[in-house]
Amino acid sequence: MPVVTRGAPLDRLLRPVHRWVWRDVDRRLRKLLTFADVETDGGRDILRAAEVTPDPLLRRLYLEHAIDELRHGVLFRERGVALLRAQPARRAPFFSGNPLPGGHGLDDLRIEGQPDHRLLAFLHVAEKSAAGRFAIYRAMVDDDPETRAIFEQILRDEVFHMNYTYTQLARIAPQTYRRHVWYARAKRLWNRYLRVAGAVAGLLGGAMLTLMYFVLLPLFAWLAKRAERREPLGWNPVSPARTSSPKSQF
Ligand SMILES: [Fe+2]
Ligand SMILES: [Fe+2]
Repeated sequence: MPVVTRGAPLDRLLRPVHRWVWRDVDRRLRKLLTFADVETDGGRDILRAAEVTPDPLLRRLYLEHAIDELRHGVLFRERGVALLRAQPARRAPFFSGNPLPGGHGLDDLRIEGQPDHRLLAFLHVAEKSAAGRFAIYRAMVDDDPETRAIFEQILRDEVFHMNYTYTQLARIAPQTYRRHVWYARAKRLWNRYLRVAGAVAGLLGGAMLTLMYFVLLPLFAWLAKRAERREPLGWNPVSPARTSSPKSQF
């Protein structure tokens, strides 16, 4: 399997956005701290996979994998905190969020009830994507040798994770491993589509409500004021038909 050093086509296309995100120190340290959480959570999940797998070889590999991910979490957290401490003064950046998906994609990982072949296929796809993305991030932090060295180190581990998951998948499902990988890819794409669709629906909903507030609300306010002007002021005489109405019941 070739070593991933270029990233997925979409990520290569989004290089200017990646560059914009990593250029700002505030956004950079937020990214690193987010990665720290994702890697640590992924490490915990893989530790759980090591507990539940019936395969002794996979248990050893999962354990090694989990230790790597937990170490990545520590590396990212320490670097993020170091950058935070080096900041001369806190300032609010123009945009401190993250317009792009995170590095690893292990946040979608589900362990309970998953057979090993499905888990390995998912991990292989996620690790391959992480390796490609970390290769891009490494190029984005040329001005920061310490962060670059962390990406360099983590990238080597991610390539190992990508390769061992594929080899083990081929071992435990020699007839169907390709199908499992395609299924994992399709599921990942579908989950990504759902996230994008949810974000777009949120944006459209917000835009529609804003539009209604500024276009429909003034119209109804104007109609209400016009109706109010037509109403006579003070006490109004009541018609005889309405005054006889209460007595008719008794
Ligand atoms: Fe990792
Ligand atoms: Fe990994």
